[in-house]
Amino acid sequence: MLVLGIESSCDETAAAVVDGGAVLSDLVAGQDEIHGPFGGVVPELAARSHMERTAPLIREALSRAGVEAADIEGVAATAGPGLMVCLLVGLSAAKGFAFGLGLPLAGVNHLEGHLNAVFVDPDAKKPGYPFAGLIVSGGHTSLYLVKSPGEYEHLGSTLDDAAGEAFDKTAKILGLPYPGGREIEALAAKGDETAIAFPRPLLDRPDHDFSFSGLKTAVVNYWDKTGRRAGQRADVAASFQAAAVEVLVEKTLKAARANSVDQVVVSGGVAANKRLRAGFDARGRAEGIEAIFPSIRLCTDNAVMIAHVGERLLSGGRNDGLGLGPRSSWPLAPKKK
Ligand code: KG4
Ligand code: ZN
Repeated sequence: MLVLGIESSCDETAAAVVDGGAVLSDLVAGQDEIHGPFGGVVPELAARSHMERTAPLIREALSRAGVEAADIEGVAATAGPGLMVCLLVGLSAAKGFAFGLGLPLAGVNHLEGHLNAVFVDPDAKKPGYPFAGLIVSGGHTSLYLVKSPGEYEHLGSTLDDAAGEAFDKTAKILGLPYPGGREIEALAAKGDETAIAFPRPLLDRPDHDFSFSGLKTAVVNYWDKTGRRAGQRADVAASFQAAAVEVLVEKTLKAARANSVDQVVVSGGVAANKRLRAGFDARGRAEGIEAIFPSIRLCTDNAVMIAHVGERLLSGGRNDGLGLGPRSSWPLAPKKK
């Protein structure tokens, strides 16, 4: 089924066309240069940029896919969770397109998109069901048991900051630009990750929740207490990264073991981190659990994953209609007790 997908939940405007699980086009317009000076995403500015970019991006996505608007058979757009003003833009564009051409419309859960990105990635190994799915981004840190296509069990989430947020805040403390994940990774490569024993929050708890605000506070306190010495920045970055990675890896592997699965799929912007990938690979190998990562382009926000989930929903007869509204919060599944 030829599906147009639109993503606008945060600070990436994206449009893609898929057909039968194949990617025909994949466009993403980022906004780092808009939000960088503010040290974080400014929703109003993000929405304005989505307004300017969505229509041209849709046109370009159709053109690169080599199809006409009239060829499209269904429209999928992220309906949540995300920033309301941002979701509204992409969803309104999707509604206009669907209404104009008399097409069915599917509102897709952004988290479901991330969990399924691996299935539409031509370069990634496909996991078997059930598998554990970890989403680590600037807005989310959540762990799911993916039982079958479209069937999810929520195992755990962060109780405070998302993992990417912790990278971004640590970067800010160390005077690095936003977004800080990549900057921390580059700086950490020059430091000693055993230099400072930062806490590993909730590592010993039996549940599958995460917490990163205490780790961030430990970095602030250490940095202030030791006089903010420039010569120490790389060690702080490396030690922070090692602590964050250890918690993500060990808690995810523990959840996989507890649910008797031997594959974990890691997605979201933080999944671009090489130290995280190496940690999952090494510890997973030792535990007999395989870690699978979508390519970096499909780890970060994109419309391919939205179009892909949309194709499954639309093929099953789904049509959310023009009354569909955005949802800032949209749990994918109730949390397992
Ligand atoms: O998935 P994403 O593009 O957007 C959402 O938040 O939904 O993720 C962005 C987050 C930011 O917090 C960014 O700092 C982090 O992913 N990130 C990284 C790396 N690349 C991006 N964190 C750690 N290491 C990286 N290499
Ligand atoms: Zn995302």
